[in-house]
Amino acid sequence: MLRILVCVSGGGTNLQAVIDAIGDGRITNTEIAGVISNNKNAYALTRARQSGIEAICLSPKDFPDRAAFNRAFLDKVDSCLPDLIVLAGFLVTIPAAMIEKYRNRIINIHPSLIPSFCGVGFYGLKVHEAVLARGVKVTGATVHFVDEGTDTGPILLQKSVEVNEDDTPESLQRRVMEEAEWQLLPRAIDLIANGKVSVTDGKVRYK
Ligand code: GAR
Repeated sequence: MLRILVCVSGGGTNLQAVIDAIGDGRITNTEIAGVISNNKNAYALTRARQSGIEAICLSPKDFPDRAAFNRAFLDKVDSCLPDLIVLAGFLVTIPAAMIEKYRNRIINIHPSLIPSFCGVGFYGLKVHEAVLARGVKVTGATVHFVDEGTDTGPILLQKSVEVNEDDTPESLQRRVMEEAEWQLLPRAIDLIANGKVSVTDGKVRYK
């Protein structure tokens, strides 16, 4: 059984997609060991608790400095004994010590086709605003392993989504979630849970 820890900051629709996929068998061999949010008002915390999952808030604001937060964050993660850490709309930079300790055991969902519209400053609606400003005709979502860079780790899954002429950032965000994110994240977890993924030379291979 793969024990996953899900880290969230906001609405938690990707967390919900994972909960639902475990419930209906699209994700097998997996249990959610806990949910961590950096934002005490995140609706994701309510979603977790409604599903009987232990959910806590750990905010950098409650610590004297970032180093103290990073230590507490790593301690909390370790105490959950996760096999996989899932960043589902988590807007906090992952400490280097955690990346090192959980190499190829942290995945992130990003709402564009990496390497486009990613990196520092590209998160949430800002990604979709940039997509519309550039006028690309196709966007999408990516699930990748987390390394020391921002959105630079080995790519696990991608799915494209068409951009419509009358899209707003909000309508595009919704379609990318519905058509890509909520499918990709459960599929990625199921692949990992069933031993179907390996990472060689910075690239993901399917077994
Ligand atoms: C999702 O669109 C996710 O891809 C994005 O934040 C949103 C969270 O929504 N993540 C990033 O932009 C990370 N760079 P959710 O809380 O409803 O799952």
